[in-house]
Amino acid sequence: MPKLVIEGGFPLSGTVRVGGAKNAVLPLLAASLLAESGMSQIDDVPNLLDVCNMAETISSIGARVERRGTSVRVQANRIHSVEPPQDLVRRMRASFVVAGPLLARFKEAKISLPGGCNIGNRPVDLHIKGFEAMGAVAQHEGGYVHLKAPAGGLRGARIYLDVPSVGATQNLMMAASLAKGHTVIENAAKEPENVDLANYLNAMGARVRGAGTDTIRIDGVTRLHGANHTVIPDRIEAGTFLVAGALLGSGVYVENAVSDHLMSLIAKLEEAGARVEDEVVGIRVWPAERGRLSAIDVKTHFYPSYPTDMQAQIMAALSVALGTSTVTETVFENRFMHVAELARMGANIHTQGRMAIVEGVDRLSGAAVTATDLRAGAALVLAGLVAEGETEVLGLHHIDRGYDNLVSKFQQLGAHIRRLETPTEDTGAESA
Ligand code: UD1
Repeated sequence: MPKLVIEGGFPLSGTVRVGGAKNAVLPLLAASLLAESGMSQIDDVPNLLDVCNMAETISSIGARVERRGTSVRVQANRIHSVEPPQDLVRRMRASFVVAGPLLARFKEAKISLPGGCNIGNRPVDLHIKGFEAMGAVAQHEGGYVHLKAPAGGLRGARIYLDVPSVGATQNLMMAASLAKGHTVIENAAKEPENVDLANYLNAMGARVRGAGTDTIRIDGVTRLHGANHTVIPDRIEAGTFLVAGALLGSGVYVENAVSDHLMSLIAKLEEAGARVEDEVVGIRVWPAERGRLSAIDVKTHFYPSYPTDMQAQIMAALSVALGTSTVTETVFENRFMHVAELARMGANIHTQGRMAIVEGVDRLSGAAVTATDLRAGAALVLAGLVAEGETEVLGLHHIDRGYDNLVSKFQQLGAHIRRLETPTEDTGAESA
């Protein structure tokens, strides 16, 4: 089983560069399926398992996907199927965003329904309701959803999302780009990754306005073409390094981090006593003056509120803060599995429903722990970096889904962390 071995307590310094955002690349690759002509080139694409899975998913139905360094080229003029293989789609929930492009361009899509995952139930009802509002018919058949557009194609519609789902907003923006007439998505997700998708769609010839606000308006066009686009920096990778710098750094510089995308995290780190400065192409962070961060209360919510994908990492930091913090998770119902693992390292955390009460302890101690999902894995790495002694982190397939070169990036900052490769383990379920 591959594992990370971390010797804790070493200070961090220097610069680390954040790559392109995983959660932006995945819908961008799916959106490339909308191009009837031309080639798309997407730059600053991180080398991640999830990205490989999405590339394989669109290749399996006829897209030509070529990776050169950090650029990916996609040509989608020869799509031969509207049914990506079930085993590929089931590897990753985010694959469901191929439904919108296929339905809009080919009037049909048959996609395996994503199951629940480690962090919660995660339905796709809002995606499907939105497609239905645009005239599609959805039939559920043996674990698949079979979507068919009317003979004349999807029609623009007014769609209200019960919750501002990131994935549903993406699927509906893409579908509406090739629908007839005008679509309005109300209570849309405002995440920067969705703005990035809208920019890419517009470069492909779409007419999307308002991305990044609650209301997105789309005028459908008849065809789209390939386009060039550079992915926005990964705010969660950036956030993970900012937390590390706030715990152990001496002016760690997180290059390519965009402060506008990280306002809630920066505000919380400052409230806890860290110093954070916005520089020309990145963010610099220092620990609290007295050494330890102070307790704070954190509540996750939809963007621009505090991101659920940074909940586990801040909890790891607060587990060694001065005083008692609370961390409330409102986006997913089961996203506290890292609590038990942090407890193995000496953290004093108990949960009450969706709230975790974190009593800061003087020190964590190294232990063997297992990543239960992607961001939980990042939290355990942070905990290992501050703990006394040696920590072993297992379950690396989760971390590989979302962090490109995590080990070498931390080594570059002076962390004592290494990866030991041994025979493979089974891969288990995925999550955000
Ligand atoms: C995306 C991110 C993930 C992040 C999450 C919330 C990607 C690839 N993943 O996931 O990292 O944690 O946003 O910021 O971008 N919901 C419904 N019905 C639906 C869809 C969603 O009830 O049809 C609910 C979910 O159960 C959840 C909430 O809405 O409670 C948010 O989910 P959503 O924004 O859709 O998350 P994802 O797009 O799956």
